Amino acid sequence: MSPFEPFEMERWQSTWEHRVEFNLSESGVHPMSTRELLALGGAEGESLAAGLLELRLGYGQSNGSDELRARIAALYPGAGPDDVLATVGGAEANFAVLWRLLEEGDDWAAVLPTYMQIPGLVRSFGGRLFPVPLREAEGWQPDPDDVRRAFEKGARALLVTNPNNPTGAILAPDRMSAILEHAERHGAWIVADEVYSGAEVSGDPTPSFHGRGERVVVTQSLSKAYGLPGLRVGWAVSNAPLAADLWARTDYTTITPATLSDALATLALAQGVRSRVLERTRGIIAANREQLARWVADQGERFSYQAPEAGAIAFVRYRTPINSSDLAERLRVEKSVLVVPGDQFGLDGFIRIGFGPPAEELDEALGRVRALFDEVEGTPG
Ligand SMILES: Cc1ncc(COP(=O)(O)O)c(C=O)c1O
Repeated sequence: MSPFEPFEMERWQSTWEHRVEFNLSESGVHPMSTRELLALGGAEGESLAAGLLELRLGYGQSNGSDELRARIAALYPGAGPDDVLATVGGAEANFAVLWRLLEEGDDWAAVLPTYMQIPGLVRSFGGRLFPVPLREAEGWQPDPDDVRRAFEKGARALLVTNPNNPTGAILAPDRMSAILEHAERHGAWIVADEVYSGAEVSGDPTPSFHGRGERVVVTQSLSKAYGLPGLRVGWAVSNAPLAADLWARTDYTTITPATLSDALATLALAQGVRSRVLERTRGIIAANREQLARWVADQGERFSYQAPEAGAIAFVRYRTPINSSDLAERLRVEKSVLVVPGDQFGLDGFIRIGFGPPAEELDEALGRVRALFDEVEGTPG
């Protein structure tokens, strides 16, 4: 077993996100309250609200209630409830997938930058990780030759986060096809983390990897596109035998999603309710994305970034000569604002700004970030 590799970004967030005045390290939108969710739930929400205080808090069906899994399956053409495992967040889904698919000493590949959970786990469990770089100059797309080379070197699986965290870019259709083709040719797995799917600015859903190959497993959750991270509900969808194997793994982790969360998640995924929930998220993203764009434009050459296509995150390159971790630490200590330093994605010279908070909070927080840059550069604020 290799030495444990801490998950730097989550450590940073776990330690500080509730200890600062403004949290711009979060990648989702301002979360919904229980009341808001029940109200968006229409008649089904009313009936759940009426029964909520009587809901017995026993263990639920441990792979997710039948109704929840049926509603998740309905999102993926050709999938049925037995192809789905409901988990505690996308994080548990990713963990179970990694645990099931990674054999010791395995080589995996991952698009980079990415959410570093699976890369950190691969290395912590004794595997090697081949990077497939996302190229900024190409709109944060992977080069198909890099994908091919990773499989030729022996990667047994490729992790792809689509839409991507931290860039908010969506895979171009030709790159998605190239990934599928090369993986198929080498008999390799594709692990597609699709937690930002549904949070597209355009409103057009990101095509899922589900159903596009035999060795594909997709993970997703209610944390980002649905604005419900506190429910801690996610899922993995693949085929029935793999879903059963993953379920056997979660017997060792959390046993089952929380009963209250299962009920609220089932409501959020009801037909009609789901579209209203996603509409709320997209409304916040569309408005705040403009706010961020104005803030960047106002500061001339200081920043550049590619406007995200999905999610409430922007991966912003800055020209000020300061290391990104030092910058993030100064922002935290001196301005009480938390951002994610590019270092935590292996790319210094960037910060990831979460722009999902309410507009006035975002305004104040961005003002403080600007003030710190002014101070570092010695320019009058
Ligand atoms: C790409 C990606 N996958 C998974 C997760 C885990 O989130 P959750 O467990 O809340 O679903 C995150 C959280 O930021 C993420 O960005």
